[in-house]
Amino acid sequence: DWTPDSFVESTVAELKAKIGDEKVILGLSGGVDSSVAAMLLHKAIGQQLHCIFVNNGLLRKNEFSDVLEQYQGMGLNVKGVDASARFLDELAGEADPETKRKIIGRVFVEVFDDESHLVEGAQWLAQGTIYPDVIESVSATGGPSATIKSHHNVGGLPDYMKLKVVEPLKMLFKDEVRRVGASMGLDKALLGRHPFPGPGLAIRILGDISAEKVAMLQEVDAIFINGLKENGLYDKVWQAGAMLLPVNSVGVMGDERTYEKCVALRAVESTDGMTADWVNLPYEFLQKVSNDIINKVRGVNRVVYDISSKPPATIEWE
Ligand code: XMP
Repeated sequence: DWTPDSFVESTVAELKAKIGDEKVILGLSGGVDSSVAAMLLHKAIGQQLHCIFVNNGLLRKNEFSDVLEQYQGMGLNVKGVDASARFLDELAGEADPETKRKIIGRVFVEVFDDESHLVEGAQWLAQGTIYPDVIESVSATGGPSATIKSHHNVGGLPDYMKLKVVEPLKMLFKDEVRRVGASMGLDKALLGRHPFPGPGLAIRILGDISAEKVAMLQEVDAIFINGLKENGLYDKVWQAGAMLLPVNSVGVMGDERTYEKCVALRAVESTDGMTADWVNLPYEFLQKVSNDIINKVRGVNRVVYDISSKPPATIEWE
């Protein structure tokens, strides 16, 4: 019978046997899957696991330092790499959504490759791939795991992809991953986190990106997400966030006219992200959040709420 405890016990034993005294590299994202994979490996091989957590400059407010601290508190051997400036430099002036994604993917590989070279003698790459990722990479165009699985063709691949791959969650669904995490004592807040896209706030800033726009959106997003938490709404929503629109609109402040940015809030219910319905958040809550945003975030004078479902509207705006 499958139980989280028996899964942890047998997986830890398997990992020990498989890896022996070799070193493993793992990229942490702050998400559930990579965190649970890291904890399993940590239990099996301790300090032979070298985790890398990259700040791409597109994370939520304070996320990099908060999550890094949390990982250290869990005893993980983790290195935080702040590559914000490198990502933002490479993104400067680029407005096309797919090109933005490609740049972020490429720079991530470069940064990760550089970092993995610093772990001398590493032989393994661990990944938090879960069962639905495996299916997806077989049926569709292929996610990162599919790319890495094609490692027979080592020619043009980054060096870290030449490592042997270990994927301890490959046979699990998301809810099973959460139960395994809980049975190892992972923080509830970490296990209950909303999904967050790899390209981060880059696909929530419509058009080109700057450090100022990222900082502005981080403030807006933090007010919205903290508001959801404080009002007991966070766990009722599958995913939520804010979009910075490339639109200025006229407002008034005192006797002055303003011409400032508009932000859109989005909160959806979903089971897998493939379809989604917008959430009927209480008007009083939206009213309070909207006031807070406009009063506290300089440069924003208008807030709208996205009432579109997927399909046809995707969850992210880019
Ligand atoms: P969409 O916008 O396609 O998003 O309805 C569905 C889910 O996927 C996430 N998403 C991404 N995740 N890289 C990611 O890692 C991406 O480029 C990306 N685009 C969308 C999105 O946040 C939602 O959970």
